Amino acid sequence: MKIIVTGGAGFIGSNFILYVMKAHPEDQIINVDCLTYAGNLENLVSVENEPNYKFAKIDIRDRKAVYQLFEDEKPDVVINFAAESHVDRSIDNPGVFVETNVNGTQVLLDACRKYGIKRYHQVSTDEVYGDLPLDRPDLFFTETTPIHASSPYSASKASADLLVGAYHRTFGVPVTISRCSNNYGPYQFPEKLIPLMIANAENGKELPVYGDGMNVRDWLYVEDHCKAIDLIVREGKVGEIYNIGGHNEMHNIDIVKIILKTLGKSEDLIRFVKDRAGHDLRYAIDPAKIHAELGWLPETMFADGIKKTITWYLDNRSWWENIVSGEYQNYYARMYGNR
Ligand code: NAD
Ligand code: TYD
Repeated sequence: MKIIVTGGAGFIGSNFILYVMKAHPEDQIINVDCLTYAGNLENLVSVENEPNYKFAKIDIRDRKAVYQLFEDEKPDVVINFAAESHVDRSIDNPGVFVETNVNGTQVLLDACRKYGIKRYHQVSTDEVYGDLPLDRPDLFFTETTPIHASSPYSASKASADLLVGAYHRTFGVPVTISRCSNNYGPYQFPEKLIPLMIANAENGKELPVYGDGMNVRDWLYVEDHCKAIDLIVREGKVGEIYNIGGHNEMHNIDIVKIILKTLGKSEDLIRFVKDRAGHDLRYAIDPAKIHAELGWLPETMFADGIKKTITWYLDNRSWWENIVSGEYQNYYARMYGNR
């Protein structure tokens, strides 16, 4: 199978490529990424010289370049990870989220329609469902929960999902969509909660916790997400949406305390800062459908996954120190400076 993986130089995309090249060495992988601040080819040095791996520096918004790629490569499958993915940045500057997440997705769908494809898979998020109240632990997101996005990021992902559904119904493009909960693991950019807190703690910097730290996220180890996507692409039913999550809900503050404890650092580093605008209270996935239909279950318990992740960041200090670039310093000063 020839698979185009867009956004393959980012956190989940690079983990997916590393996973799929091991699990299916007979497949050919084309990594399509325009290398924004979040894209890092260093993640893929271990496979970059493999004969079944290729990198194409293409922006998914660039229709001409995307069509040319489809014409040259004739892919069987497209898996779209490419996105602007950080909620805080979407509050700072929503425009690029619409451009990449909505318009970029539409370009890919048009290419699939024009050149034909066996499967287009959209990597979406549980954030399209909005949030759940903190005092109703009995409520979960299912695939039929109405879309109710809160941030410009989640609104752009929800819009993309609607386009994917429409291209299936109207034009017969063979699509699937997955909506996963928060991921953690190696190669996550240190603007997201877990790597940011690890990096700050290691550098003796304050750990900025939004609001009272009681917001809940449902955490999944990135490799479990990759396995679920691989399964959906190979065995999932065309036209279907699959939620992915492992029933692992945690308050933000508890995650921060686990990180400090594991690193042997003091909780005095915690600083409660002004809350995120529109901050979603709780995400919680019901993964019953993917379990029943495809037999998927998460394999990594949080206690093990977080240890593995912290160890990876300690062992790969130069990876995150190098990417904490000038652009990131400016972002950090803007985001946390007056909080
Ligand atoms: P990321 O920000 O780490 O990586 C995004 C990648 O997309 C980067 O390599 C970037 O260079 C590339 N990219 C951005 N704009 C592009 C464009 N216009 N053209 C080509 N490439 C472009 O993101 P991530 O955390 O790996 O998330 C990947 C996907 O998974 C996203 O679609 C996100 O919405 C979804 N998702 C993420 C999580 C999570 O917890 N991180 C959870 C559920 C779903
Ligand atoms: P994040 O990793 O940005 O993922 P998302 O907003 O997509 O769930 O944030 C996870 C949670 O951590 C979220 O409730 C916001 C919170 N948070 C902080 O408290 N401080 C921070 O510095 C960051 C980046 C996030």
